[in-house]
Amino acid sequence: MLWSQSLETGIPAIDNQHKELFRQIDILFDKNNKDRVPQTLKFLGEYVEKHFRDEQLLHTQARYPKAESHKKMHSDFVTAFKKMKQEYDAGNGSLMILLKINRAVADWLKNHIMIHDKEFAAYYKSVKK
Ligand SMILES: [Fe+2]
Repeated sequence: MLWSQSLETGIPAIDNQHKELFRQIDILFDKNNKDRVPQTLKFLGEYVEKHFRDEQLLHTQARYPKAESHKKMHSDFVTAFKKMKQEYDAGNGSLMILLKINRAVADWLKNHIMIHDKEFAAYYKSVKK
């Protein structure tokens, strides 16, 4: 799954982290990296949380009115991701579960960026001096 320019928010710090997330998803997809799946899943989980914290910091700094609801979306996603990861661990590395995780993460991210991160970016640009 490729990063596309349509996903750009125009805030470089956020865009760079989004690109890294997509890179990690691609690593998960690559069958040549089968042995790296557990460590990639672990990294992805940690990186997602770090990314969300950074984004939320920007929201706070910019006094973003939708900061709370945006934060809730992040934490719901973290919960869902952890659940899927547990499912993968419990399923002894089932390929089916891995594909499900991949699709769920990629779809969620794309949708979230296109709608909610872009909405914040528009706000951020409007208030930035
Ligand atoms: Fe976000």
